[in-house]
This record gives sequence, C-alpha cells and structure tokens, in this order.
Amino acid sequence: MSRDSKETSSSKPWGGRFSEATDKDVEQFTESISFDRRLFREDIRGSRAHARMLARVGLLTPEELAQILQGLDRVEEEFASGEVELRPDWEDIHMHVEKRLVHHAGPAGLKIHTARSRNDQVALDLRLFVRAAAARLTEELDRLLAATLYKGYHYRTLILPAYTHTQQAQPISGGYYFGAYAERLLRDRKRIQGAIDAAGLSPLGSGALAGTTLPIDREFVASELGFSGVTQNGLDTVGDRDFVADFLHALSLMMVHLSGWAEEWILWSTREFGMVRLPDRLLTGSSMMPQKKNPDILELIRGKAGRVFGDYTGLLVLLKGLPLSYNRDLQEDKEALFDAVDTVSGALLMMRLAVEGMSFETARIDGILSETELLATDIAEDLVRLGVPFREAHAIVGRIVAHAAKNRLRLEALPDVDLALFFDRFPPDYASTLSPAGSVARRSHTGGPATETVLQRFNEIWQEVFSGTPPWSETSLPSKGGGRGR
Ligand code: ARG
Repeated sequence: MSRDSKETSSSKPWGGRFSEATDKDVEQFTESISFDRRLFREDIRGSRAHARMLARVGLLTPEELAQILQGLDRVEEEFASGEVELRPDWEDIHMHVEKRLVHHAGPAGLKIHTARSRNDQVALDLRLFVRAAAARLTEELDRLLAATLYKGYHYRTLILPAYTHTQQAQPISGGYYFGAYAERLLRDRKRIQGAIDAAGLSPLGSGALAGTTLPIDREFVASELGFSGVTQNGLDTVGDRDFVADFLHALSLMMVHLSGWAEEWILWSTREFGMVRLPDRLLTGSSMMPQKKNPDILELIRGKAGRVFGDYTGLLVLLKGLPLSYNRDLQEDKEALFDAVDTVSGALLMMRLAVEGMSFETARIDGILSETELLATDIAEDLVRLGVPFREAHAIVGRIVAHAAKNRLRLEALPDVDLALFFDRFPPDYASTLSPAGSVARRSHTGGPATETVLQRFNEIWQEVFSGTPPWSETSLPSKGGGRGR
C-alpha cells in the first residue's frame, strides 16, 4: 500500500476516479512545473482566448468571462513576480494556472477547462512559444547578419586567400568572404521562418484527441491568437511536435554554420595563421600561463553546437516510437526546446560581438598570400581564350607553376622567355597583367567575388531583410583594420 494512501485525492482535478492519493515519488517523477512554468504567459494567453470563445458561444456568461479575465491578469502578475508556490502535486503549468485562477476568480474559474484538455492546451502553448522564440531569435540573427554585411563592406576590397582543403586556392575579397556567411545566415533565417509557419495553426478544440460535443468556435480562438487557421485532425494534433522538430532543425543547421565559422577564426587567430585578431574584451586568459589570450567564446560556440544537435536528436528519438495520439513522453519535448533556444541565443550574441570586434591582420595576410599559385586558374582560363582546350591549358599551367616554384618566382613576375618555354602564344608582358585584385575584379558574374557584384548582392540582402538602402558608409564603420586592396 502506498504511504500516501490515507491522504485525499481531491487536490487533483482528475482525482474523482481515484481511491487513494498519488504516491509522492510518482508526483516528483511526473511533474513538469519545474520547467514548463516558463510557458505561463503562453498558457494564460491561450486561456484568455479560450474564455472569450466560451463566452461567445454561450458557455460562459459575460460576468463569468469578466471574472476569468480579471483572474487571469492576477495569475499572470503572480507568475511574473515569482510569487506562485510551485507544487509537484499540481503537476504542470496548466493546472497551476487553473488552480490560481479558481483562487482569484472563484466559481467562474471552474469553467475555464470547458471543451479543453491539457493535451490541446500544451500543444497550443508550445506553438505560441515556438512562434515567439523564433521571432526573437530572428531578430538576434538579423543583428548578426547586419554586422556581417557591415564588416564585409568594410573589407570589400581587401584581398584574402580563399581555401579548399585548407589549402590556398584562389584570391577573393573580404566582402566576398563575409558575403558567404551572410548567405548562410539568410538561409537560416528562412528556415526559422519556416518553423514559424509550421507552428501556424491553432490546435485548440482538439480536446483530448477527438474534439468536443460542445459548440466551440475554433476559428475564433485561432484568429484571437494570431494563427492563420486551425489544425484539421485532433488525433494527429495532440501528438504532433513536427513544428518543434522543424524549429530545432533550423537551429541545428544555424549552429552548424556558426560552429564552422568559429572554428575558422580559432584557426585564423593562431600565431601560425595570424590572419584574424579579436579585441581583448572578447578574449579570456589562462590561470597558469600569463601570456595566453584565448578565443573561448568561439570555442564555446563550436562546443554548444553539439549541445543543440543533442536537443534535436533527443526530440527525434523521443517522437519516433509514439503511437497516436498524446503520450506523456511528449512532456520531455520542452527542456530540449528551451535549451536549444537559450543556447542559440547566446551563440548568436557572441558571434555578433566577434564579427563586430574582429579585424584582419592585413600585413600578415599580404605576407602569406601564395605567390605562385593563386592565379594559376586565371592563366589557364586566359589560355582557353587563346583557343587552348581547358584540359591542356590546365596541364601547361601546372608546368608553369612548378617552374615558378622551383625558381622561386611569383607567377606575376615570370618573364616572357620563361613563359614561352611552356606556350608560345602568350601576349607580350603577359605576367605583369596578373594580380590578385585584378583576378577578383574579373569574376564579376552573378555569384562571383568582384566588388561591384558583392556590393550589389549586399544591397539585395539588405533590401530583403531590412528594406531600404543599406546605411553603411566609411564613417559608420569600426575604425580598426584596413579596407585597402593588396
Ligand atoms: N505536462 C504535460 C506535458 O507537458 C501536459 C499535458 C498532460 N496531459 C495529460 N493527459 N497528462 O505534456
């Protein structure tokens, strides 16, 4: 016999059918109030809309509605100020709000749960939470995106080596470099927007799973809460967390992008690369090695990516074995969601500070730009212009590069006689026409690195996300670091 068997079971809204009180350990194991209290605003907002609907269809009198709305205001204040005692025997946020509502509104409060189940209620709260959190993270992402475009504008003519296989490949500009991350952020933004849409229908009215016999008006509740419509099958709806998975997928992919970017700057800020500098205010020291300055924020962005993937995969594993419809397992969706939202929010802020604060070590970059390789593809393409099939041109230039390397000559410095050893129709003084900046400028097609193309694209992105023309100009830019070409 349970040690709590002598207590009454009446404190539970569902206690009527039970002959003894719930075991305290069971209450402790099954409660969710310790974390779903975070949904109190959503829960109360949903209850307000639900109550208005009940009054509209005649299930509440105008007086009862007024009492309930006033009571909900009180409950919201209580939760906002942290006054409410959180009780495991009241299980979750839904029961806490209802209990406190009855306390404040009296008998009218006993009617709030008419035509509603905690199953459609929690589905509603979660949709409202996802939509609000996604909107907030979008704003944070937008600030990072703006910082990225600003920095790209600042470095629009700086020549950088671009890599494949972490080997120098071709010259690009700083504008093109930041533009690459801007594109990724733009896609992340669209994916987050997609998650907002996925959570865009109201689940309320699904009841426990099969709706209600009472004359509800689902569309009214939906429009009260800013949804574009209602879900179409209660049996599906109460167990549907696809929108949470969509959101966590979007956040995971964004963390993939931030993590790779962080890794790149961790590498680029080593003494060995020496290409990127972060200001002291963003660095941390070592407790033992006095000389150290470490990019911990970047490492933690990289590390916390794994945490967000854990939240996402945890949710998928949680969902994969569930039969229709609601199962209590679903209670475990919330901590993963909350954790991902908080983690991503921190990572977005840190990445923005890093972007705003970073500078390129331009002298160092000048020094490490490969002298014999970056323009090889340009030469091969010039040979194509002279009628040489690309595959042959590739081989010819390969031999020229080997020759230049052997003789420690920059490609741009190869005399005509040397070039003639490999191909007899180079124009006079050909090598002197080569330069990394010229190479960048020549690639002006859509998607290429030429400054004009990059700035055109920056304008499009700015227009799409922030509308209007970009506000950047030399004067509004951070003073650190150079924007000059090589
Ligand atoms: N705390 C529960 C959850 O988060 C709310 C729904 C409970 N429904 C139920 N029938 N026990 O999923």
